[in-house]
Amino acid sequence: MKVSFIHPQSTIEWNWNSALLIPVFENILPVECSLLTEEQELIVQALIDRDLFHGKENEVLFVPFTNTLFAGTLLLGLGPQDKIHSEKVRRTSAKIVECGKANKIKEWICDWTKISIDYIPPLIEGIMLCQYTFEQYKSPDNLQKDKKTSLVQLTFIVSKEQDISHLQKQSQQTVTICNTVSMIRSLICSPANELTPQSFADFAQDICQQTQIRTYILNKKSLEEKGLNSILAVGKGSKNEPLLLVLEYNISSQEEKPLSLIGKGVTFDTGGICLKPREDMQDMRYDMAGAGVVLGTIYALAELKADVSVVGIIPLVENMPGGSALLPGDIIKTYSGKTVEVLNTDAEGRLILADAITYAQKNYSPQRIVDMATLTGGCIIALGHFSAGLLSNNDDLTEELVRAGQETGERLWTLPLWEDYDKLIQSDFADIANIGPKAEASTIVGGVFLKQFVENNIPWAHIDIAGTAWGVKHIPYWDNKYPTGFGVRLLTHWTLKNYKRNTG
Ligand code: BES
Ligand code: MN
Ligand code: ZN
Repeated sequence: MKVSFIHPQSTIEWNWNSALLIPVFENILPVECSLLTEEQELIVQALIDRDLFHGKENEVLFVPFTNTLFAGTLLLGLGPQDKIHSEKVRRTSAKIVECGKANKIKEWICDWTKISIDYIPPLIEGIMLCQYTFEQYKSPDNLQKDKKTSLVQLTFIVSKEQDISHLQKQSQQTVTICNTVSMIRSLICSPANELTPQSFADFAQDICQQTQIRTYILNKKSLEEKGLNSILAVGKGSKNEPLLLVLEYNISSQEEKPLSLIGKGVTFDTGGICLKPREDMQDMRYDMAGAGVVLGTIYALAELKADVSVVGIIPLVENMPGGSALLPGDIIKTYSGKTVEVLNTDAEGRLILADAITYAQKNYSPQRIVDMATLTGGCIIALGHFSAGLLSNNDDLTEELVRAGQETGERLWTLPLWEDYDKLIQSDFADIANIGPKAEASTIVGGVFLKQFVENNIPWAHIDIAGTAWGVKHIPYWDNKYPTGFGVRLLTHWTLKNYKRNTG
């Protein structure tokens, strides 16, 4: 999608596929816009007088014009002016897309002279996120027909004191991040017969080639040599061998402490020998969403030429039952040296993340570690689909992430990690067990387990995206059948805001 900016005096090249968009706050009427003729303003006013539009949140009114060079005007209600915030704008964008499709609009000229420029990025985000589709496996005859009318251009008219080149740069960043989110949504959506640990790594290496990201892979043999037994154990049951993918962005000197992002990459989670029920098992192809989000975040940072040092550690496995699969009761000696009794082969995410955390610490001395994972069904029970779970050993990191969540609309809610919970993973036969008793506090138990592998109190956070990675309803820009890519915007924003070394 193209985004451009102009000042009010500039000439606009209207055409039949373009329309005017006017954001309106509740009851701040009449609607005035220098681009409307007197006659058009009267038409709009007449409709308002007839109580057809008040500027309420999510209220829209499209007024088609026949005697002009453009298709019409969309009044976009944003609710009361003092209650406006970016998430409202993001959500309202779905209405613009809807109206655009109904009226075959390809370009919106947005009168942004009476509303803060802060709301431009969320508008772009909302529009791009809700236009996403995944149709690469559909034959041409079965493609959604409305795809042809997808929006191609947004032009913002901003007041003359605004710096257009700055706005242009900022909105280009937003577009880059959203394009990355779309790419990652498609990766996450890919079926597991196509997306194996190896093909995930191939895809990552392929897209990173034109960037400043350096990648390498530890294959099964190197995992064995180094002793990343926990990743190997989970991968044992599958003919698609496990591997560890590492992404290095601006990793130069030894002294520099990078951020470390770790993502759960289970390309399919059958549950292993503790087999899952068949209902909705197809969703378990999304069990690599955390891995996708980490790849997407680092890719976006590289595209934006962010001046930060980041290492991504992505363990990739397929969790399968079979003659050589991991068994309940097995004891693994993890890469850290700690032993783990596997009481449930379906609690596999924490096993592969444990070795990934250890790998980060042994090889990169990270200043912060954040892991993303579709770790527990219990997280959906606790928080539903409107927020991801956040568990951390550090209050500053917690605060940074929660704030980034509010600013991006990818919200986080903290759960406790009090030492009391450590008792839940006691094992009779090994250092720790991989599950707690029954379903008790299962999301917390996941965090408690991972915490055992974090050394020297390095600030670390675990984000459980089981509820937000897909299946999100009632949020307009995500209201579709596709995975959300939840976390890419959050982590990219968090990194840029808190860790960039200079402005760029
Ligand atoms: N990938 C699942 C978690 C999951 C389930 C995410 C449903 C999204 C929707 C994970 O590997 C898993 O199976 N977790 C178990 C842990 C339990 C055995 C302690 C769970 O949540 O049931
Ligand atoms: Mn599982
Ligand atoms: Zn899983």
